[in-house]
Amino acid sequence: MKILVIGGGGREHALVWKLSQSKNVHTIFCIPGNGGISEMATCVDMNANDTNGLIAFSKKEKIELVIVGPENPLASGIVDGFEKEGIPIFGPRQKGALIETSKVFTKELLDKYGIPTAPFKIFSDYDKAEKYLKGLKPPYVVKADGLCAGKGAYVITDQAEGETVLKDLLVNLIHGDAGKNVIIEDFLPGVEASYLAFTDGKSILPMLASQDHKALSDDDKGPNTGGMGAYTPIPFIGKDMEEAINQNIMLKTIQALRSEGVVYKGVLYDGLMLSGGTPYTLEFNARLGDPETQPILFKMESDIVPIILACVEGKLNTIEHIKWKEDVSICVVIASKGYPDKPEKGKVIRGLGDLKNRKDVMVFHAGTKKVGNDFYTSGGRVLGVTATGKTYEDAIEKVYDAVSCIEFEGMQYRKDIGAKALKYSIERSA
Ligand code: AMP
Ligand code: GLY
Repeated sequence: MKILVIGGGGREHALVWKLSQSKNVHTIFCIPGNGGISEMATCVDMNANDTNGLIAFSKKEKIELVIVGPENPLASGIVDGFEKEGIPIFGPRQKGALIETSKVFTKELLDKYGIPTAPFKIFSDYDKAEKYLKGLKPPYVVKADGLCAGKGAYVITDQAEGETVLKDLLVNLIHGDAGKNVIIEDFLPGVEASYLAFTDGKSILPMLASQDHKALSDDDKGPNTGGMGAYTPIPFIGKDMEEAINQNIMLKTIQALRSEGVVYKGVLYDGLMLSGGTPYTLEFNARLGDPETQPILFKMESDIVPIILACVEGKLNTIEHIKWKEDVSICVVIASKGYPDKPEKGKVIRGLGDLKNRKDVMVFHAGTKKVGNDFYTSGGRVLGVTATGKTYEDAIEKVYDAVSCIEFEGMQYRKDIGAKALKYSIERSA
């Protein structure tokens, strides 16, 4: 098969790496790709949001399957465009992507179909929102409706801050139209997890629960980022909890979407809060997570191509389960100096060659560029160093040993990815 992957981050490198091992695949293109991907696929320097250009490219190259990584092309209807041309594509249509692009759509859907989420109210009028807010006691959460590159949710611990955020969103329009509607919801204490599943709009095929680390610095300090690391499995999510998430959230949501006339195909990503033993949905994404995809796919033993094709063809019930390595899998993101606000670029990266043949380690590239035989930084999140081990301790040691081999000017990374899993394990066995 000839496959085109859209995107150029660590998630797409993991996808291309996994696809390159499939006996069903002989050629992979990636638009735009990155330095690491260019060693496994033909990268083409085109705009990932130019649907018409991508369709023309796919026709010329006789692409047999397109896989969409990031949310922006999904939000602008890339799947609808390709489907009209009869080119198989993996991902939800624009209406399905609303589950990520509009928190108002999602909260109303969850509410209508009785799917657990934090109690909430929706506002577009500043005066009404401010009046409501004055009657609340922090903590609570204020969220912009639309896509804000991970910066649209504010956990409010101080009333004055709540009023400022509200004004910024509804009056100063700091997120533009994305903040024209806001949600004010109850704060849910608990632990967060990412739960991803393949779906053909009728059934689901769950992947593994994982945990992202959104804050820039250790102990969840500092500004929020796209994600500084992830690991799987999570010690506190066992079979019973998985079944509760599958039945009470994932399947119910797919069915709710169908009742609303949306056949949702692709990956459904549930960002959930486990609060008092119950999983509540904080948000959905309409795609694979980044960096969650890196440790998840590194653990996947099954061929991913038949799974993706079964989703596209509406036959996911023909795939019984996914085979996984038993191991713990951890990804540590290395970012540039200045990330997330103003990342430096153009720094030479050293040490990658030494890690190429290391067993149980894979370095997925994100913001990198290959010039001659050298790799240079070209973005905020640069690398996702990923390792598997028999235990959390083993995987942590392997991944940080690999990280210590890499060097570029100003590099920053968290030193505590996986540490929470150790803590939860100790708590569980106590
Ligand atoms: P979201 O974009 O909705 O996933 O929110 C971003 C982050 O804000 C989440 O990853 C949580 O850490 C936090 N958050 C969002 N909603 C809530 C809530 N209702 N209770 C507690 N924390 C929340
Ligand atoms: N890891 C968070 C995301 O993919 O949105």
